[in-house]
Amino acid sequence: MALHQRGDLSQAEALYAEVLRREPDNFDALHLMGVLARQGGAPEAAVELIARAIALDAGKAIAHCNLGAALQDAGRQADALASYERALALQPAYPMALANRGNALRKLGRLDDALASYDAALAQQPAYPEALANRGIALHLLGRRAEALESFGRSLTLNPNLAESYCGAAVTLQSLGRSDEAAEAYRNAIEARPSYAEAWTSYGTLMQRSGDYQGALDCHQHALALQPDSAQAHLHRANALRALERPGEAAAAYRDAQACGADAASVAYQLAALGEAEAPAMPPPQYVAALFDQYADDFDNHLQNVLQYRAPQLLLAALDELGALAAKTDVLDLGCGTGLCGPLLRPYARTLAGVDLSPQMLEQARRRALYDELACADVVEYLQAREAPCGLLLAADVLVYFGDLQPVFRAARRVLAAGGAFAFTVEAQQSGDYGLRPTGRYAHSRSYLEALAQAHGFEVRSMTEQVLRKDDGRDIAGLVAVLAKLS
Ligand SMILES: C[S@@+](CC[C@H](N)C(=O)[O-])C[C@H]1O[C@@H](n2cnc3c(N)ncnc32)[C@H](O)[C@@H]1O
Repeated sequence: MALHQRGDLSQAEALYAEVLRREPDNFDALHLMGVLARQGGAPEAAVELIARAIALDAGKAIAHCNLGAALQDAGRQADALASYERALALQPAYPMALANRGNALRKLGRLDDALASYDAALAQQPAYPEALANRGIALHLLGRRAEALESFGRSLTLNPNLAESYCGAAVTLQSLGRSDEAAEAYRNAIEARPSYAEAWTSYGTLMQRSGDYQGALDCHQHALALQPDSAQAHLHRANALRALERPGEAAAAYRDAQACGADAASVAYQLAALGEAEAPAMPPPQYVAALFDQYADDFDNHLQNVLQYRAPQLLLAALDELGALAAKTDVLDLGCGTGLCGPLLRPYARTLAGVDLSPQMLEQARRRALYDELACADVVEYLQAREAPCGLLLAADVLVYFGDLQPVFRAARRVLAAGGAFAFTVEAQQSGDYGLRPTGRYAHSRSYLEALAQAHGFEVRSMTEQVLRKDDGRDIAGLVAVLAKLS
């Protein structure tokens, strides 16, 4: 045990093994061998060893707490929670079990309960930097960003080397648009723990969003050196290579991601965007959901402050000019995302509903408290199932995730009341009908939209070419269209 405490893990392990050879039912040796297995990155073995110890003596809170930690490492959050509860039943004022229970609750999405558990831990032990860091993460996830920063700050005052705190603070700073401070916090996290793969990945994502693709590539290569089998890290590396316009290497990296378990349909879609396979009619829904789930936290800041996104404003101006906002009506925000259109639409909406594929984007929209209903569904499936007619359908920067727009037009017509408006933006292409771009978004032509409008009983009230936003510093030209349903 002295060797273990000193960090001499292999010598400690040899001695625990010797004890167990002589006395297979030695509680301490089983328990601590399990702790050691966890430290060595073998959580399943740890679970097995600690459970054997607990079978001999179930009355030690520390063993239940360590079992909980091993179960968490093994991804078994609900079982971990049960272990922490058992530890706390034996010893209610146990700060580590309270803080760890907070972690399990947070991973299970029970954020308010997690926060209460962190607070209980801190009531017992106010100078507990790890509990403060994890409390910060829970506060961030609850959208309480100022309090989150304060919790990370207190944690770092107690332990200026706590990598998790720097990383947590970086995520919060990034979502607040404080990118320079976020970058510094990621660097601090990496300095505190150079083997922190998650910090490398998040730092790389920040660089990618700010257009430093080479910096992003370097970060993702660091993450991959630490976790060579991480599908996510391969995907990030592929995205950086794609942005660097190195399509051959990007395609190889997407294939590496698939070999490590990335979703095959999503990889096939990325390869199609690189021109390596035929483009499908639309992206797989799980690709869209994963893309925007990852993006949700930073979406508003990135789109508005970096990409100068203005599709919602352009659509509202076009509708206003046509007098389409004169009377309040039932409004549907298709692919509502974080709800950037919500504040613009609300004054004209009798009811306002939003639909989106990404649960995390919807979570952000929910926080705005502007929508009467938010549904997690595919746009077309939602429209096909909706009973109540509506007067305005809006799709801002959403149809770029559809190639063939026939199903959208057909479903939109079914839901719109006569005379109702269908307002949307697309990225513009000059010839043909539509095509998938290397960015993974589709572009559509004016003639295609006009033909679809005619085929589905819409009048084109306006269709103007406008700059929708920037991408990599370049203007993205789009079409801003308002159609009216003909009776
Ligand atoms: C670029 S964001 C635009 C969000 C919002 N309309 C805005 O203007 O801020 C595109 C959104 O469309 C959603 N989306 C893409 N394809 C979808 C589909 N088939 N069904 C539902 N939502 C979809 C994405 O999840 C994402 O939130």
